[in-house]
Amino acid sequence: MDSKADFRATFESLIANTKLDGRYRTFIELERIAGEFPSAFWHGPDGQTRRVTVWCSNDYLGMGQHRDVLAAMHRAIDRSGAGTGGTRNISGTNWQHVQLETELADLHSKEGALIFTSGWISNLAALGTLGRLMPGCVIFSDALNHNSMIEGIRRSGAERFIFRHNDVTHLDELMSSVAPDRPKIVAFESVYSMDGDIAPIAAICDVAEKHGAMTYLDEVHAVGLYGVRGAGIAERDGVSHRVTLIEATLAKAFGVMGGYVAGPAASSSQPRFAHILLRVPSRLCSTSELILRSGRAKSAMSGG
Ligand SMILES: Cc1ncc(COP(=O)(O)O)c(C=O)c1O
Repeated sequence: MDSKADFRATFESLIANTKLDGRYRTFIELERIAGEFPSAFWHGPDGQTRRVTVWCSNDYLGMGQHRDVLAAMHRAIDRSGAGTGGTRNISGTNWQHVQLETELADLHSKEGALIFTSGWISNLAALGTLGRLMPGCVIFSDALNHNSMIEGIRRSGAERFIFRHNDVTHLDELMSSVAPDRPKIVAFESVYSMDGDIAPIAAICDVAEKHGAMTYLDEVHAVGLYGVRGAGIAERDGVSHRVTLIEATLAKAFGVMGGYVAGPAASSSQPRFAHILLRVPSRLCSTSELILRSGRAKSAMSGG
């Protein structure tokens, strides 16, 4: 009898079970048409191609097809080619990325920003690192937080408490149950994409400040859409300065790809948050930040 593991059989059985559970997904194949947002070609399983309208895109403003955005991408490629050529710690920081980070920090009225390959990775990396770096850290997480935040919090190994969605009284109760001298982070979103509701950011900051906690706000579904400069709900509500770290994506209203975290750089005598986050392995070991993204994203942000 052959005793080797039969990987094919294992995965076929997993897929069969997923189908039995009704959890097996199929995805339609769409080809976006530059300049005709939100139209796309649907390449059907029957080999037929049909023109469809996509109303569920996260490219909320069609910036991924805006002519100025596309032109900026072309310019960036013509000037510097594609790819970064390596990670920051091996072959230097990409000049366009530094410009983009400066612009993102300015957008959120923060001292510094760091870009990542996606919003998902920025949450995983930032929360995972912050929770791990501060001994005894406790993270308070909204019950409806995005999976990437949950994974980051898990990865940090920090003790965590889940507060009822948008419930500041519950948050206060939970925070009161933890020793005052333990470092605390309150992690939440501004616009919750599944229900479309918005967090009471000022009230959450009130509770966080009362307990001396840092605040970590995911503005993924708000940047580009809310606030006079498109910095999100915190800007709209005039509370950006009260939020310690703002995380967002370049892949939704900005129409491109990538994620970032913006926050305090602090004075030279204090630890710089940007440098702390630079210790994140997933940030340092990824070469996949595309140079063209900088051109696209910067153009999208300037309303190009
Ligand atoms: C709230 C929230 N945070 C983070 C992400 C991840 O962002 P990205 O698509 O850039 O990976 C998403 C993605 O949908 C999201 O909804």
